[in-house]
Amino acid sequence: MALENYIRDIQDFPKPGIGFKDITPLLGNPDAVKECMQLLLNSLKDKNIDKVVGVESRGFFFATLLAYELNVGFVPVRKPNKLPYETISSSYELEYGMDTLEVHIDGIKKGDRVLIHDDVLATGGTAAAVCELVEKLGGEIVQCNFLMELSFLNGRNKISKYDIYSPLVY
Ligand code: PRP
Ligand code: MG
Repeated sequence: MALENYIRDIQDFPKPGIGFKDITPLLGNPDAVKECMQLLLNSLKDKNIDKVVGVESRGFFFATLLAYELNVGFVPVRKPNKLPYETISSSYELEYGMDTLEVHIDGIKKGDRVLIHDDVLATGGTAAAVCELVEKLGGEIVQCNFLMELSFLNGRNKISKYDIYSPLVY
């Protein structure tokens, strides 16, 4: 199955000059979702993941599916002031703006083997901030995976010391 067929290009969203990759056609097609899950799970064989960290908001869709399939806990990384318990935070530069992400201090235990998932790796700012949060809590990052990677933005450079996998690369 050609997963690219389920990614819709939207020009000038959310701002002029930005080419947006819309994953909703993929989310709406169970065969495409299954294909994506198989590819992601194949890349995780024998990795002994303890926790899946998903990034608000578009990272949540597949991160929860991955946690369920791996039979491990899901940990949400959220935008500011969304998490009710004590948090740590990390600020980062986005493809379009500036943002902060937070995680509960008890989301990751020291030594946990962590998979980080988000929908897109663009400039890598988001992923690098999430890696920082996980490591601050003592987690070991086993893999960062994405549905797609916008390779022309060189996001890999910001998280080059980690194992990275994305079924779709543009
Ligand atoms: C988008 C995307 C990734 C991030 C990638 O999220 O879902 O999380 O940007 O960009 P980067 O690699 O340049 O940091 P966004 O912050 O737009 O929010 P959303 O997931 O809530 O839509
Ligand atoms: Mg996002």
